[in-house]
Amino acid sequence: MRLRKKPHTDEKLQAFADFVTQGDVQPIAKDPARELFVELGTGKGDFITQIAERNPQINFIGLEVEATCVLAAARKVRERQLTNVRLIVFDINRIAEIFSPHEIDRLYINFCDPWPKKRHAKRRLTHARFLEMYKTILKPDGEIHFKTDNRPLFDFSLEQFALMGMSVRDVTNDLHAAEPADNIRTEYETKFSAAGVPINFCRATFGA
Ligand SMILES: C[S@@+](CC[C@H](N)C(=O)[O-])C[C@H]1O[C@@H](n2cnc3c(N)ncnc32)[C@H](O)[C@@H]1O
Repeated sequence: MRLRKKPHTDEKLQAFADFVTQGDVQPIAKDPARELFVELGTGKGDFITQIAERNPQINFIGLEVEATCVLAAARKVRERQLTNVRLIVFDINRIAEIFSPHEIDRLYINFCDPWPKKRHAKRRLTHARFLEMYKTILKPDGEIHFKTDNRPLFDFSLEQFALMGMSVRDVTNDLHAAEPADNIRTEYETKFSAAGVPINFCRATFGA
């Protein structure tokens, strides 16, 4: 998904500078006493705002490359008066530059772009190339929670997790058949579910 940047998005983001950063890598104020959960490809923020509201004791960071999406997410954060969310306009390809080794407790990958062409496989956020990066910043027992509507991407991802020696749990090809009470639907999840597309889910860890 590539949104065209609306005029003045950057200036509008300035109004949220207390919890939004953009452009070059900037230091992130982190609190080592709290767990840190990071969402990759936050989109317009439905997921991160809901999960942050339900878990005020956990810090959340959303990474999203499209400034227009970050602006929409920022408005939701402010509306809900959340103090445990930071949003960064950022390309996940550079994720290892902004986190210290093994500081993240959990990564959420929700409905990432499937990049269906084989020659683009390395761009998938669950490709081993990315998993290598996540391994350096996730705690040894940290988890990746992965959801997608795209079955070929899901099967590919399970292969990549196995290739990396990861343990995988709670694998399902139809999450909504018995939807866990704590499941939070993302924008894409709501859309696909309404269209009758089953949602795949699993959680994976480099630990046991
Ligand atoms: C298909 S949308 C899903 C949005 C949201 N997670 C959801 O489930 O509704 C994928 C999102 O990932 C973002 N994205 C894709 N590649 C990215 C990258 N390399 N770095 C940061 N964000 C990226 C896109 O801009 C888009 O907002």
